Parts: sequence; C-alpha cells; structure tokens
Amino acid sequence: MSDSPVVPHHIAIVMDGNGRWAKRRFIPRLAGHKQGVDSLKRCVRACVERGIGVLTVFAFSSENWNRPADEVSGLMELLALALGREVPQLKKDGVRLHFVGSREGLSSKVREGLDAAEAVTAHNTRLILNVCFNYGGRWDIAHAAAQLASRGEAITEASLHAAMGMSHVPDPDLIIRTGGEMRISNFLLWQAAYSELFFSECLWPDFDEAALDEALQAYRSRERRFGKTSEQIAPVHSQSMPG
Ligand code: FPP
Repeated sequence: MSDSPVVPHHIAIVMDGNGRWAKRRFIPRLAGHKQGVDSLKRCVRACVERGIGVLTVFAFSSENWNRPADEVSGLMELLALALGREVPQLKKDGVRLHFVGSREGLSSKVREGLDAAEAVTAHNTRLILNVCFNYGGRWDIAHAAAQLASRGEAITEASLHAAMGMSHVPDPDLIIRTGGEMRISNFLLWQAAYSELFFSECLWPDFDEAALDEALQAYRSRERRFGKTSEQIAPVHSQSMPG
C-alpha cells in the first residue's frame, strides 16, 4: 500500500463476463469458464512480469451456489481439473497459492485438491495468488466475528482483520472488475476500504496484457489520500504551486 503508486503491490479482480463471452459464440457457459481459466493463467504471468506481489481473484462466490446445478458442478470440476493441470507449473514459476473462503459444502476431492495445492506451493515467494472460492465478503466478516466471540476475544479492527481470510496479505491497492458491470458483488468488503477501483468493459476471457496495462495506467493517475488532504500527501509539490 503506497500513497504515490507506480505498480500496485496487490491487485484483486472480479473475473466477470465468461457467460456473455460464451453466449456471443453460441457455446455453453462452461466453455466460457474454461476460457476464463486460460485468461487467468495469462494474467498470472503478466502480474509476475510486472512485479506485482499479490493477485486475488474471485472464482466462486457464496451466492454462485444459486446458479443452475450443471454450471455449479461444472465449475467444481473445472477447479479440480485446473489444479491438477496447472499447479506443477505455478510451483515452478514461484507462485504461492491460497484459497480463501469456506471449505464447507465442497466435495472431499476439491478440498483435498485445495490443501495439496497450498502445501506444494507454500515455499514460493514470487507472487501470492489468492483464489476466493466459496467466498463472500459478508461471510468473511461474520465468520471472523464468530471466531472471536467463540474465543471470548474483543472485536476490534485489528482482531477482525487478523481473523479474516486475507490476513496474510495487505489490502488490495487496485480492484478490477471486468465485464462492464459497476458493482462490488460481495467481494473483499472489508479489505476494499481504500482500494482504487477500475471497471473494464472487457469480458474476462478477453482480458489480456493490454487490458491489464490499461488498468495499471489508470491506477498510476490516482491520488491515494487515505482520508488525508492532497497537501498532506504531496506537501513539497503543493507548497511550490501558486495560489
Ligand atoms: C463470472 O462470469 C465468473 C464466474 C462466476 C466464474 C469465474 C471463474 C473463472 C474465471 C474460471 C477460474 C475458476 C476456476 C474454477 C479455477 P459470469 O459467468 O457471471 O459471466 P456473465 O456475467 O457474462 O454471465
């Protein structure tokens, strides 16, 4: 987190638009999600190349259980398949995987896949990749509060933060949502307090290096004040300005 940003340390992405990408091609929604996995691989590589330290993606929300059963089971299978195929390369590339969200309701096959992927990449340091799966921002806050209450601990900003799923990384500097919608959809509600937001018209499967660079360029133009005044952020610059 910095008030004179060049490259954000932590980017978080709502990967929206897989369904519309598929619909435009008259192919099943799941084919859009498969293409979404390829787009995620490209994005991980691009983040490593650009020196970004943490990438957090929203892969399956607490509310996505309400989708048609075949799409839900398809997404579960896709996750298991992607883990089997991609983890060895992620391990080689220095990527550390974390899965953030509830493990309840996931099959034992998926749960074991998540645990194994976290274990084999645990010593990597080049990029932390947080995959929010069976995750919701409200769930995370309520779950953390319940944990503190069960231990009889005081609820403070610091204790809540420490009990939440993203306590191992600083808050996101930049949150990108693809697919043209302008909402946060229960993603990182607590951690987004001072994140810069960028909304891209690109559908997630089309989100390439150029689209990422567009978001990074927009980020560079933002002034992050964290509640302070402009003058406090850039005192030398503002004192030398006339008027
Ligand atoms: C939102 O697009 C996307 C999702 C609910 C799933 C995101 C998953 C991936 C990108 C694949 C990677 C995930 C795994 C399982 C490894 P949408 O379906 O809401 O698109 P729409 O708004 O166009 O309908």
